[in-house]
Amino acid sequence: MSTLPDSVLSVIGQPQARVDGPLKVSGSATYTSDLNLPDLLIAVPVCSTIASGRLVSLDIADAEAMPGVHAVLHRDNVGRFYRLSGNSMETGFVDEARPPFEDDIIRYYGQYIAVVIADTFEAASAASAAIEARYEVTPHDVRDELEADDKPKVESERGDPDRAFDTAPATLDATYVTPTETHNPIELHATIADWDGENYTFYETTQAITVHLGTLSQMLGVPKEKIRVISRYLGSGFGGKLWMWPHSLLAAAATRQTGRPVKLVVSRKMMFQNVGHRPVTQQRVRVSAERDGKLTSLQHDYVNHTAIADDYQESCGEVTPLIYSTPNLRVTSGVTRRNVGSPTSMRGPGAVPGLYAIESAMNELAHVLNLDPVELRLRNEPRVDESTGLPFSSRHLTECLRMGAERFGWSRRTPGVGSMQRDGLTLGWGVGACVWPGLRFSAAADVDLRADGSARVVCGTQDIGTGTYTVLAQLVAEETGIPLERIEVGLGDSVLPLGPISGGSAATASVIPAVLDAVRAATKLLLSRAAAVDGSPFKGASEDELAFSAGHVHRKGETPERGVPFGQILEAAKMRAASGSGSAKGGFDDPLKKRFSIYSYGAHFAEVTWQPEIARLRVSRVVTVIDGGRIVNPRAARNQIEGAVVMGVGMALFEHTMYDKRTGAPINSNLADYVVATNADTPELDVTFLDHPDTVFNELGARGIAEIGLAGIASAITEATHHATGVRVRKLPIMIEDLLAAEMT
Ligand code: MOS
Repeated sequence: MSTLPDSVLSVIGQPQARVDGPLKVSGSATYTSDLNLPDLLIAVPVCSTIASGRLVSLDIADAEAMPGVHAVLHRDNVGRFYRLSGNSMETGFVDEARPPFEDDIIRYYGQYIAVVIADTFEAASAASAAIEARYEVTPHDVRDELEADDKPKVESERGDPDRAFDTAPATLDATYVTPTETHNPIELHATIADWDGENYTFYETTQAITVHLGTLSQMLGVPKEKIRVISRYLGSGFGGKLWMWPHSLLAAAATRQTGRPVKLVVSRKMMFQNVGHRPVTQQRVRVSAERDGKLTSLQHDYVNHTAIADDYQESCGEVTPLIYSTPNLRVTSGVTRRNVGSPTSMRGPGAVPGLYAIESAMNELAHVLNLDPVELRLRNEPRVDESTGLPFSSRHLTECLRMGAERFGWSRRTPGVGSMQRDGLTLGWGVGACVWPGLRFSAAADVDLRADGSARVVCGTQDIGTGTYTVLAQLVAEETGIPLERIEVGLGDSVLPLGPISGGSAATASVIPAVLDAVRAATKLLLSRAAAVDGSPFKGASEDELAFSAGHVHRKGETPERGVPFGQILEAAKMRAASGSGSAKGGFDDPLKKRFSIYSYGAHFAEVTWQPEIARLRVSRVVTVIDGGRIVNPRAARNQIEGAVVMGVGMALFEHTMYDKRTGAPINSNLADYVVATNADTPELDVTFLDHPDTVFNELGARGIAEIGLAGIASAITEATHHATGVRVRKLPIMIEDLLAAEMT
């Protein structure tokens, strides 16, 4: 379906295997916790066992005397940390503003109160367990039920939604709840900090080495040039590794005080306490329509829980103002404080819980109207972004819905509850649309075209596991004709040119213009040498008459084979490499966003099977169609959407971090009790990408994908569940108890 001929695009758009694949499958890709430096010490934090109160005293004498223990750091001896001047993508970003040990107040269960540094993990763990803390306990609040404790903030408004709602022939007013969810990348957060008396090196699990560097610089009070941050491979992060968490500072203090490198690996239990989560959301949706389904109003009032001393907001209403056409709309937000660690971005922050609510409401409204839910969406397709009046750069939601319906066989759906059967199972079918912003951040890259016929490309971004190494290699291969396997990619080191965060599904769109710019600068240099140096067959030609393609320098208008391999030019010029630098600007204040509404779109169609006799609900089949602009690597992209859909099965059916009301602790803080979807839960998956390059956004037309795959899927599953069982679940995850209750009524 490509709009450009294959001859133009030979590498981009092809399903490429990961260039780092062999390293990963052979176990030779080194993740942070795999590294072992000479003289390495191990740090293990001590966590509070209350959720609210004051730390009165710490008895560390026994721990200090234990074998292998080098130091126990706490409030009185940890040294100085500073607060960030404010969150910024340029200078530093944290969700937990308070540096560790800053005061003696305990605000959530698991808050760090000390850290033990020892020769081994066993010695450090034993010593940390031997530390006695005394607390003054005050009542904590970890309730899931939310009420806004501030005046709701109006985020978007047009027309008079109250009046439109009150006078509409069809209305729906429902409240949807999503639970705390915890990021569970297989790779734990980890820091190795190494101070040489002057300079720090941090081996980190971070989705943003450049932001991490700025954050460390400010919070340690150390100039940036004395800090290097390295993150070569990541075992994912899902947003939990976007911003620095306090353990990085503890590792810094530990190396500063012991003079030896120190490794601190956050335990799976601490992953539930200390490094963010998706907060509980409670979202009231009011939507009204004419009898033909045309929306007359949409109101989305949401609240999320947040920490006692931090202000993380889950932007549930971010895409509400533009997903459907309606003259009257209001989106409001609020927060409720709880004794929990700070929430943070988790895959598709905002839109994922937000679209669960909005898309569920659309499905329920379709029932009120007795209208097909796909048809309801098609009838409310906007022509422009009605929140701003801006044109869409490229929007193909209706095509996603139509193609998805076609592939799924939606026309065979009979709407009655329990009306569809297959192989003795009751079937349920549901739909949900998805939207995610097209984002791009500032990026720079360097490219070397080398005399041996190879190339190297570097950028100070990192590969969270989605295929960024491969994308950079593809861009250089596409532009030069150098084979992928001869292109070396360097990422994950803060000494490299400024790179984007691996977040917001923005890395690909961010690196494209920077890498193309760099490779073109290198090419220009190569051609200028070809036109000038002795020994070049093109000596004396004008640079403009020459071209570089298929790895050859040749005359324009002639086939590459009639020219010479580019390495020969560099040999003749006695150069190791022709080097070029490139850069591109982006950010949340991207000026392009003042002219265009830039989003990706998609639709999920889900099938569940239901066995009422044993109350067994399974997601059996999901068809997804994504409009993400040009797909640079369909193989990696498919992997992202398939993974997101599986995560969506988890969101709908399993994931729920529960806080113990007595202690305030996240109680299911392990992979046995916090249930995520596994291979056994994976439905039959069918993912299709529309190929409508968004050339407003960049010359390849790629917007980037990943998070969008998790948006909307839960609403498709809850709708399918209603279709099969008659039970309308408005509080995730769907519990077996919800379905049993239906059986009894
Ligand atoms: Mo994503 S939650 O922006 O890593």
